[in-house]
Amino acid sequence: MQYITLNDGVSMPQLGYGVWQVPDAEAYDTVTAALDIGYRHVDTAAAYENERGVGRALRESDVPREEVFLTTKLWNGDHGYDAALRAFDKSLEQLGTDYVDLYLIHWPVPDRDLYIETWRALEKIAADGRARAIGVSNFTADTLDRLLREGTRPPAINQIELHPYFPQKAMREYDRRHGIATEAWSPLGQGGALLNEPLLGRLGEKYGKSPAQVVLRWHLQLGNVVIPKSVTPARIRENFEVFDFELEVSEVEEITALGSDGGRIGPDPAVFNYVG
Ligand SMILES: NC(=O)c1ccc[n+]([C@@H]2O[C@H](COP(=O)([O-])OP(=O)(O)OC[C@H]3O[C@@H](n4cnc5c(N)ncnc54)[C@H](OP(=O)(O)O)[C@@H]3O)[C@@H](O)[C@H]2O)c1
Repeated sequence: MQYITLNDGVSMPQLGYGVWQVPDAEAYDTVTAALDIGYRHVDTAAAYENERGVGRALRESDVPREEVFLTTKLWNGDHGYDAALRAFDKSLEQLGTDYVDLYLIHWPVPDRDLYIETWRALEKIAADGRARAIGVSNFTADTLDRLLREGTRPPAINQIELHPYFPQKAMREYDRRHGIATEAWSPLGQGGALLNEPLLGRLGEKYGKSPAQVVLRWHLQLGNVVIPKSVTPARIRENFEVFDFELEVSEVEEITALGSDGGRIGPDPAVFNYVG
């Protein structure tokens, strides 16, 4: 495993296991499988409605809690200072733990214009030692500019949609300039057409790896934190076996060149105001 050090000194495994769309009833088994394989980083969210299953897997595992980096996120309906504190308490209760390693604002929800108040609540949660690190997800240069101006501490992470079809060059560069780590969501492009790209097949053959492993290696070499999701045990293992080969710089660039401005799969955070 490779670790990165966040701007607040917290160390974080660069590869983790994402659990969006894993039903609560299955999360116990899949997170247990991931921990057995060697993952030490799990990415969930209140909105995924599986914090209970994730928490039970962590509690019942032989792996000590302090060896697992656990992330959860505040949902869009919970913006505002008091609401954020309440949402955090609820997440801790569901997870059955007394702290998380990373707490993120899931989306800025610009129309509600509450993310600065929410950030103050996250700063309080961090000051109280209940989240070792705090950060954001789906923030743009505009929303981050304001957070950096009005907050008292910078976010450690910005978790954004990022994969070879949408490589987010400008946002990665923005994060880097401001000492914020970039974390990639949907790192495999949700397992769609991307994994059939001939370039990835060719590189996979060269290194004896699958297209998914080549994509994950690309992320690691760009410096991204990466959190692939799978409910398939063989794929959970495959996605972990990415530390024993290295792409050439020119190959990293070729993969990045698959991207385009239209490569986004998920919502555009500048206009995503859904709170349901
Ligand atoms: N902050 C946010 O707004 C946000 C948004 C989206 C996601 N996320 C986080 O990012 C994580 C990952 O993103 P994601 O779940 O959207 O997509 P992803 O990890 O890019 O792709 C997951 C899909 O790829 C398939 N897959 C996984 N490994 C594979 C492999 N080795 N070969 C072929 N197919 C493979 C999975 O299938 P099976 O499961 O059937 O094996 C699943 O359908 C989420 O779980 C969540 O933690 C955050």
